[in-house]
This record gives sequence, C-alpha cells and structure tokens, in this order.
Amino acid sequence: MVAGLHPEPPVAGVSLIAHAVVLVGPPGAGKGTQSHAIAAEFRIPVISTGLMLREAVQRNTSLGMAARDSMESGALVPDELVCRLVEERIGEPDCARGFIMDGFPRNLNQAIFLEGLLGSTKGGVGMLALNIRVSQKTLLMRLAGRRVCPECGTNYNIFFSPPRKEGVCDNEGRALVQRPDDNEEVIRRRLTEYEKQTRPLIDHYSSLGLLREVDGNGSSETVTAAIFALLRAS
Ligand code: AP5
Repeated sequence: MVAGLHPEPPVAGVSLIAHAVVLVGPPGAGKGTQSHAIAAEFRIPVISTGLMLREAVQRNTSLGMAARDSMESGALVPDELVCRLVEERIGEPDCARGFIMDGFPRNLNQAIFLEGLLGSTKGGVGMLALNIRVSQKTLLMRLAGRRVCPECGTNYNIFFSPPRKEGVCDNEGRALVQRPDDNEEVIRRRLTEYEKQTRPLIDHYSSLGLLREVDGNGSSETVTAAIFALLRAS
C-alpha cells in the first residue's frame, strides 16, 4: 500500500490507494464530470481550481479581479495566485483522507509545487495522475456546445444532449448560459495553452511512474467505469 493513505477504514466498501488523484486531461476531457463521480464513490472532496476561480470572479474578490482577464482570454492565471489557493484548500480538514485535483497542476511549476506540498518528490508516494484522452473534434464539440443552467448547474450540449426546449433548463425553466470561455476563439487559446503548458506533465508523471491513462471518448458512464476499475487496480 502506498504511503500517505487516508488513515480511516474504507467507506462503503471502497478504498482509494492514492492520497491525491490528479486529473490532467485537456479542456473538455471530462475532468470536472469525472472528478465528481470519483468524489461520490470514494467520499473525498474535489479541488477544482477552475471552479474556485470562477466563483472568485463572480464574487468580485481580489483574487477574482486578478484572475478575470486571464480566464476570459483562455490564458492560465498566474501560478502564485493558483498555488496559494490550492495550498489553503488542501489544508482544510476534509482533505485529510485524500482529494481529487481537477485542473491543477497546469504546468511543471505547479506540479513541482504540489509534489512539495504532498512531500512526494520521489514518485509514487500517495499520488496518481490520470490522463483522460479525448479526440480534438470531440473536445471542440463538447466545449462549443456546452450550455449550463445558472440555477441548478445542469450541463447540456446543443449537439449531444440538448434541453427539451431550446435554450431553457428542463428542471428550472431558466435560460441557459454559455461559459464566457466557451466561445470558439477562447477555446482555441485554451487548447493551445494546454498543448504548451499542460501536456508536458504527461511525460513528467510518466517518468515518475505515476501516470495512468483512460479513453475519455465514450459516454460519461463508460469513462467513469473505466476510471473506477483503474483506481481500484492501481
Ligand atoms: P477549468 O475550469 O479547469 O476548465 P478547462 O480545463 O479549460 O475545461 P473544462 O472545465 O471545460 O473541461 P473538463 O475537462 O473539466 O470537462 P467537463 O467535465 O467540464 O479552467 C478554466 C480557466 O481557469 C483556465 O482557462 C484558466 O484561465 C483558469 N485556471 C484553472 N485552473 C488553473 C490553474 N491550475 N492554473 C492557472 N489557471 C487556471 O466537460 C466538458 C463538457 O463535456 C461538459 O458539458 C460535460 O457535460 C461534457 N462531457 C464530459 N464528459 C463527457 C462524456 N464522456 N460524454 C459526453 N459529454 C461529456
């Protein structure tokens, strides 16, 4: 068993070997979707830097004001802001048994910072990186087609899973919105940033023996099943 594991007995018959599960797929790979499925199964929290930053932007906090321009253009938010956010969140009591990282680290600098936080610079100690692989065409359709209910957060996709009535949430009857960074120009920038800054993490984690890969092109349920099997076998 890997060091740094949660000290408590497995919950509901499941256990998770790695203390931190890091999702490193490109924008639209399903990191958010799958992190919530993993969280529900293994009863550990999700740390989503994208979500935390979007909330900060919405609340107009100093972090939100500093992050807004980068996010709206599809660039990465400066490392020092994101690293501080993550350090604070990991220090909270609910992370003691382990956690899932959605969207962090996004570059080598952040990866080394996280390894320092976890005390695991010598590969294999309490951490696993999961690369969700998805074709470029599917990524583009998932991102450009995404519409979200501002009330209940339900995700729709105008190509794959449209609401019953165009532009309106099936549950709340509210008008659906598009994430500001889901327009074509910004999506392209996000994918370019991924190629330049985040893809190198695959080699990094592979060289540390921490990388696992899963095909993310299938349905959410198929991908979830593959991830659970992989996490249980790791
Ligand atoms: P972030 O929020 O992390 O966004 P992202 O990674 O660019 O992309 P998504 O959240 O859209 O993709 P995802 O892989 O989570 O997929 P999802 O499950 O949502 O970051 C946003 C911005 O914040 C960044 O551009 C940057 O500015 C900043 N930021 C965040 N972290 C940072 C960091 N560490 N450092 C610096 N800056 C940072 O799925 C996408 C869609 O597809 C959804 O509609 C979903 O329902 C659908 N879907 C998912 N899986 C499937 C499936 N299997 N079949 C069909 N549809 C699916």
